[in-house]
Amino acid sequence: MRVLISQEDLERRVAELAREVDRDYAGSDRLICVGVLKGSVFFMVDLLKRLSVPLAIDFFQTASYGANTVPGEVRIKRDIDLSIRGKDVLLIEDIVDTGWTLRTILDLLRFRGARSVKLCALLDKTAAREVEVKIDYCGFQIDKLFVVGYGLDFAERYRNLPYIAVLDEGAAEVPSPS
Ligand code: IMP
Ligand code: MG
Repeated sequence: MRVLISQEDLERRVAELAREVDRDYAGSDRLICVGVLKGSVFFMVDLLKRLSVPLAIDFFQTASYGANTVPGEVRIKRDIDLSIRGKDVLLIEDIVDTGWTLRTILDLLRFRGARSVKLCALLDKTAAREVEVKIDYCGFQIDKLFVVGYGLDFAERYRNLPYIAVLDEGAAEVPSPS
């Protein structure tokens, strides 16, 4: 296991993103921050604690790469429970890999009549992209590596690491079940 992004670098970058988000939504009285469970939780909490704009929170949970799915088939295991019609939605995600998860959720949020929809992702694996996704707030661009920590898992392990790490070769080739 090798550290890719240290705890200090994560903290510094999250603080920068929070300043941008706070500035951009300063005039909004209808912000809803929607996290994608479970990977985005650590990032979302650290980001939102630094915001001063009024906001509500909600969560999606998705599943992909499961035994009964094909790439690009994203299932929603848990839907949000707030109405987003007319709201400003900031979707918060741990990592954009192929882009299928975010493409699916962003389309759904727009279809439901949000006033605006933006995406904030901690990590961007651009080289793995299969469908186009616009990232409005991006923490770090990383190579096509399998990473864990700060919410990201390998078979549900390592989420609680306070930094982002790369798993050893071999182990890293099996995709996460989440
Ligand atoms: P996408 O639909 O391919 O963009 O996949 C996004 C989801 O796959 C993320 O929300 C993660 O849960 C998972 N994922 C993709 N890459 C990694 C990784 O390097 N480590 C851990 N989980 C990952
Ligand atoms: Mg996962």
